Amino acid sequence: MIKKISHIAIVVPNLEDALGFWVNTLGLPLSHVEHVPDQDVDVAFMPSGDSEIELLEPISAESGVARFLHKRGPGIHHICFEVDDIEQMLKRIKDAGVPLINEEPTIGTGGKKIAFVHPKGTGGVLVELYELTPEESARRLERLEDMRRRLREGRRIYAAGIRAFLTRLRPQSGFNTGNGSDSQN
Ligand code: CO
Repeated sequence: MIKKISHIAIVVPNLEDALGFWVNTLGLPLSHVEHVPDQDVDVAFMPSGDSEIELLEPISAESGVARFLHKRGPGIHHICFEVDDIEQMLKRIKDAGVPLINEEPTIGTGGKKIAFVHPKGTGGVLVELYELTPEESARRLERLEDMRRRLREGRRIYAAGIRAFLTRLRPQSGFNTGNGSDSQN
């Protein structure tokens, strides 16, 4: 059973620049940032109701997300549904003849289960299914720490909004994204 839209993922060339629209203009709160090592992306989360907008910035040129950005430009990458039983949902989709990218769920950090449905069978939309575990918040914290480490060690330079978040400074009124000299790509 589908519980809700977990997130809508959007590929952007630069997180900080993208926050200009999503946070400053629309007014969504930036609730979390993290580095996802297996996809080599930096991610920013903005909750809206029970769901989230997830911005993905590819860090290396080789990742799937980077290839997507290169080929198709910025835009919606996938829609993710949280389900209560991912195996059951995968069987249901498979029985309907819709091709799956992952026939079996992949197990992420914290035990979370993920699988993707092939866009060939969904009218061109990459659909992710997500079964959460109670360890999800610990996993997020771990990935946030990973991003903090990258900032501290100078492996990544972040502009003001992300940097403020990583150093736990609460920005007073959104983020100043107009400063080109402070941004990085
Ligand atoms: Co996703």
